[in-house]
Amino acid sequence: MLKRRHVLSSRDFSREEIDSVLKTAESLEPYARGRRAGWLEGKILALLFFEPSTRTRMSFETAMKRMGGSTINLGSSEASSISKGETLADTVRVMGSYADAIVIRHPKEGSARLAAEFSPVPVLNGGDGAGHHPTQTLLDLYTIKKESHLDDLSIALVGDLKYGRTVHSLAYALALYGAEITLVSPPSLRLPDQIISDLSRSGAKLVETSDLSEVVGDVDVLYVTRIQRERFPDLVEYSKVARSYRITPEFLERARSGLKIMHPLPRVDEISPAVDDTPHAVYFRQSFYGVPVRMALLKMLLEAGQE
Ligand code: NCD
Repeated sequence: MLKRRHVLSSRDFSREEIDSVLKTAESLEPYARGRRAGWLEGKILALLFFEPSTRTRMSFETAMKRMGGSTINLGSSEASSISKGETLADTVRVMGSYADAIVIRHPKEGSARLAAEFSPVPVLNGGDGAGHHPTQTLLDLYTIKKESHLDDLSIALVGDLKYGRTVHSLAYALALYGAEITLVSPPSLRLPDQIISDLSRSGAKLVETSDLSEVVGDVDVLYVTRIQRERFPDLVEYSKVARSYRITPEFLERARSGLKIMHPLPRVDEISPAVDDTPHAVYFRQSFYGVPVRMALLKMLLEAGQE
């Protein structure tokens, strides 16, 4: 179903397609944990990361290798011809002749879409500036499904909703599942108006506030994000909002007993390490789920005979 398609935005997926990725991911969990599989033997994934990454890069690499495939890595821009002035279009054209698919992360919004225009093979957006991060959304939904529930979900998206690409992508997908979404951010870091209006038009149930203590007792999931320091044009503005929210065990005393706390990671100081050992914390399992989910996506995109 997904064969030879680009994955640029969470809006490219229907609910049925997402459900099918999540179902495949579930069946692949034993392989993500080490059971042998050779479905992608001979297939190569190119990793083009122009911004720092730990989980996205390493879990794509793990996913490929767990299925018998391999990866090639452009490395830092300094080590490649990008430093000689080569364009993204040319780089992608060539990488597409070496590899069967390309994952790209880039500081500029829209760069994955540009790459897709020039690539002969599927392009997966691993994060384009403050734009989108669709594969993170798939693993976030998988986490919600496994650790909480996707039906009748009440979720708060917390932190940097302006620059945070994970929440941009996730909000669109949550709307497909009819979730009640509470947007919690400092006033200067609200979800962009365009996304709010898209979501409202699609009938999403949205509430906005800057006060997390108002909502912590009413939600099934807190999706906490880092304030995206690197996206601020002015670091004085960053310092004004840097420590807006901090989740501690004391703060969670009024939470529902089944509350799950998610975070795409890396965290800075928005979740105290003292929360890690509470039953609320699911963010490290969430990082692991990136492996079976990316395996599912790659298998559906690349496996031979999957027309
Ligand atoms: C996020 C990203 O890069 O957008 N990390 C990730 O992919 N897990 C979140 C962040 O950097 O804050």
